[in-house]
Amino acid sequence: MKKLLVAFSVACIAASAAFADPAEDREALMKERGKIAGDLSKMAKGETPFDAAVVTAAFQTLQANAAKGVDVAALWPEGSVGDGESSPKIWEDKAGFQAAADKFKADVDAAGAPADAAGLGVAFGKIAANCGSCHEAYRIKK
Ligand code: HEC
Repeated sequence: MKKLLVAFSVACIAASAAFADPAEDREALMKERGKIAGDLSKMAKGETPFDAAVVTAAFQTLQANAAKGVDVAALWPEGSVGDGESSPKIWEDKAGFQAAADKFKADVDAAGAPADAAGLGVAFGKIAANCGSCHEAYRIKK
């Protein structure tokens, strides 16, 4: 909390420079991923009706999200080790983490436009495998 307040006052002083907090940025990025993944998985399982327009929009948002996520230098800069749930392994194995971020983006970009819930399940399954493997290697649950 103290850290947050300090960050906040620094942000106020430097407001015109508009420096964002990378720990908050990556958390927001992941929260957006979580929301989209939740919506798509419900649809793939038939818990909500399949809606091609909603799926297309969700994939577009996820593509933009994954594109942001490959900027590892901006979201996981040197000074932010220990903030949030990011494992120190990210900084120890930058190449591996970058490769995981790049693969996620490639898989999201390749998802195409599923025509029904079954197709969505297949496309989403490939994407979701990235969430699990990257979290296992590079995220610590606090
Ligand atoms: C390239 C690695 C990588 C991929 C791929 C990835 N994540 Fe994450 N995720 C992380 C890291 C690292 C954190 C911890 C961020 C932090 O707190 O600093 C995280 C945190 C999260 C969180 C917790 C956010 C919070 O509230 O603090 C959620 C939710 C999440 N990820 C969802 C997803 C979903 C869903 C996917 C797949 C669609 C995904 N992530 C793909 C690395 C990844």
